[in-house]
Amino acid sequence: MHLPVQNEDNVMEKTWWKESVVYQIYPRSFNDSNGDGIGDLNGITEKMDYLKELGIDVIWLSPVYESPNDDNGYDISNYREIMNEFGTMEDYDRMLAAAHERGIKIVMDLVVNHTSDEHPWFVESRKSKDNPYRDYYIWKDGKDGDAPNNWGSCFGGSAWKYDEKTDMYFLHLFSQKQPDLNWDNPKVREEVFDMMDWWCQKGIDGFRMDVISMISKDRTFPDGRIKENGYGDFGPFVHNGPHVHEYLQEMNQKVLSKYSLLTVGECAGVTIEEAKKYANLEGNELSMVFQFEHMDLDGGESFKWNERKISIVELKETLSKWQNELYGKAWNSLYWCNHDQPRMISRLGNTSREYREISAKMLATCLHMMQGTPYIYQGEELGMTNVPFETLDDFRDIESIDAYHEYVGNGQIPAEDMMRFLRYKSRDNARTPLQWDDSENAGFTSGTPWIMVNPNYTEINAKEQMSRADSVFYYYQKLIRLRKEYEVIVYGKYELLLPEDKDLYVYTRELEDEKLLVICNFSENRRMFELPAEWKPENMTHLIGNYGRTEAEYRMELKPYEAVVYRMKK
Ligand code: NOJ
Repeated sequence: MHLPVQNEDNVMEKTWWKESVVYQIYPRSFNDSNGDGIGDLNGITEKMDYLKELGIDVIWLSPVYESPNDDNGYDISNYREIMNEFGTMEDYDRMLAAAHERGIKIVMDLVVNHTSDEHPWFVESRKSKDNPYRDYYIWKDGKDGDAPNNWGSCFGGSAWKYDEKTDMYFLHLFSQKQPDLNWDNPKVREEVFDMMDWWCQKGIDGFRMDVISMISKDRTFPDGRIKENGYGDFGPFVHNGPHVHEYLQEMNQKVLSKYSLLTVGECAGVTIEEAKKYANLEGNELSMVFQFEHMDLDGGESFKWNERKISIVELKETLSKWQNELYGKAWNSLYWCNHDQPRMISRLGNTSREYREISAKMLATCLHMMQGTPYIYQGEELGMTNVPFETLDDFRDIESIDAYHEYVGNGQIPAEDMMRFLRYKSRDNARTPLQWDDSENAGFTSGTPWIMVNPNYTEINAKEQMSRADSVFYYYQKLIRLRKEYEVIVYGKYELLLPEDKDLYVYTRELEDEKLLVICNFSENRRMFELPAEWKPENMTHLIGNYGRTEAEYRMELKPYEAVVYRMKK
């Protein structure tokens, strides 16, 4: 029975997805079972016990559908088939059953802002202006011999592609092979909802919805503010567009509400006010959203190619805003990493031998003690780091390769600088094979991996991590377990302390008579920390930490990247 959790200012209904920890699998890089160098579904099934051991509740599977792989599966040509490289529908069913047998749920990636240009709908659509599928996509006449407006695509160049056959342009907010679907067409919505229902009937447990905040466009298509690359910013006319909530409510009524699902919307450009609608606790849209503000602090949204470091003061301000303002109104998702972000230790921690594991554990503590549903990206639980890519040939990601050609090509960024920026920020940092052991290719494949293996696999790998009680892996296992033991971690109210401190991230959580104190040192500096007034060492019990410290003291000297969590009963 799910009883509501009561506290002074809200009543929050308990649901399984609020209490879950999600693990994201990027199938191409997880585990290859047939030696073709590409991860696959049977490879995932083989490793199900590993995930059970870690203790996660849910797997979010990046796309496994049929796709020509222009954007590694985020360009789908058939929503009801499995990509050949990943296996068959029988393999999928076996994987789903293997997960369910172990009490692990499966969340599918739903990519419906766009399809592949090889999807039969688009193949039809581009044939003629009166084709029944024409209005499944967004076609416009050119303006003055050029594209209909100045919008730039997320992967560089114009967001419009001219199609000779009918002398019109189609919209693609991502690559030219990812035409945007026309959600204003009720037939498109019906097709999508039918397909979602088909997967739900199969027994899946939810959807992660790719760029779902972008499905409804301002149909007047105004020019956008000019960005660094000379193209206009479509953001204000696309993010949280005019009908997005209407369409998601329709999706909820027609599909989602019939099942018990975890739904998470990837919501570029989402604000607090918008998130309160998408992820409202009444549940008439989605369970939660991925917001990007903390990931964009080093320049992401406006221009990601740099080596800037995120300011800890700004990080705290941003995350605290989400923690406080959604509390009791909408549900948060928590993440440092995914397949689109560089590795967290390289970005926010310290990759030196001395502090790599310590800082990985500190970052994990800081995130997992917050309010919301935590997401672990494959390899994060091992302390995997960014990759020493040498030349452009080492990269596979369309965004990285296109950006290199665009900015180096037009002389805006010198080649050497761009290589450094790619090494720091490229999505491929997250996409190299999971490091299973110290054998050839990190035990990922017996063939040639589709992308290089990080050479540090001899040191950082699952086998080694599982052989050692103080590893990052077992630290994650403990964090996951604690979330199951202490309701305050899931439902407690958050309060930030020391907002101006540039090294320390300190916060409390509170639920009824229970309180947690979470202390994280984001720097290499030793720092003095004094307990806040109501905290007395004799009343505090130690929950977890990344050094040997267990006893609390009124004044504590925190070590580099130290994290420690205490609990007290009021
Ligand atoms: C967001 C996905 O996470 C990313 O990997 C992809 O390239 C774009 N959406 C386009 O589908």
